[in-house]
Amino acid sequence: MSNWTKYFNGKRVWVTGASSGIGKALVEALGEAGVSTVASARRADRLSKLAERYECVRALPMDITDFEASDEMATRAWDLLGGLDILINNAGASHRFLFAEAEPEAIQRIIDVNLAGPMHLSRAVVARMLAAGGGHLVTITSLAARIQTPQRTVYTAAKMALHGLFDSLRGEVEPHGVAITLVAPGFVRTEISESAVTADGDAYGMTGEQHARGMPPDLCAQRILTGVASRRREFSVAVTPLLRYAAFVRRYLPWLYFRLIAKAKVT
Ligand SMILES: NC(=O)c1ccc[n+]([C@@H]2O[C@H](COP(=O)([O-])OP(=O)(O)OC[C@H]3O[C@@H](n4cnc5c(N)ncnc54)[C@H](OP(=O)(O)O)[C@@H]3O)[C@@H](O)[C@H]2O)c1
Repeated sequence: MSNWTKYFNGKRVWVTGASSGIGKALVEALGEAGVSTVASARRADRLSKLAERYECVRALPMDITDFEASDEMATRAWDLLGGLDILINNAGASHRFLFAEAEPEAIQRIIDVNLAGPMHLSRAVVARMLAAGGGHLVTITSLAARIQTPQRTVYTAAKMALHGLFDSLRGEVEPHGVAITLVAPGFVRTEISESAVTADGDAYGMTGEQHARGMPPDLCAQRILTGVASRRREFSVAVTPLLRYAAFVRRYLPWLYFRLIAKAKVT
């Protein structure tokens, strides 16, 4: 077991996407460690169950795509805990569509959940953190930002953009005590493929093979909290040997990577 609890001790944390998968596991780990935490997502019933289990956890239902409410939500989270030290931008959604077949609404939804939502929320939170003298912004991106595959075009674009946004922001906020951490997971056993958006906007409804065999969310949460506690700027979790190989080939032999990926079976 790691000693991440030392870093989180006495800190106030806001986790988005807390109703399932990685976000829920993060809240459970924080709850067990007695860390004051606000848990957000749309499914209020699931958040209430978490808040019932842990005295230190508060539920704050929220749709991250409602950008106009970002400031109000940041104020509410801040007020619930009397301040915020760490924001974990974890809410996200994937898709299963070919780019040429996607409805504009399906494309927009992926951009709003994965990029625009966390961007507006982070802006609202970082302004408060700067005024308070410091904080830590953590964002869950994806290995898709390093290994581009078919059927994940818009998701990949959003996750790569998060790296651009937060890497650019470092120079503005790190000198003022706000740390930034980007976490890129590989395959984690969550609801991400069931809820993935199809070309016409419906949910995919099936568990992908790779995700079914992925890292359990509780182990992933421990790895994430350990990396955050070390204040690492960027790290990966749940990386399989195949993903490691693909990332190497993509980086050093891109001509080979794109030849192989055009023939690969991506589900
Ligand atoms: N699982 C993987 O293998 C994997 C790999 C790479 C990256 N990731 C990233 O990890 C993060 C967590 O995903 P997960 O795998 O744990 O998937 P998940 O089980 O599907 O969880 C996604 C979470 O995001 C929330 N969410 C979705 N749309 C939202 C909205 N409009 N407003 C507020 N919350 C919303 C969901 O809650 P509600 O539906 O209740 O709102 C849910 O709590 C995502 O950013 C994902 O891209 C996952």
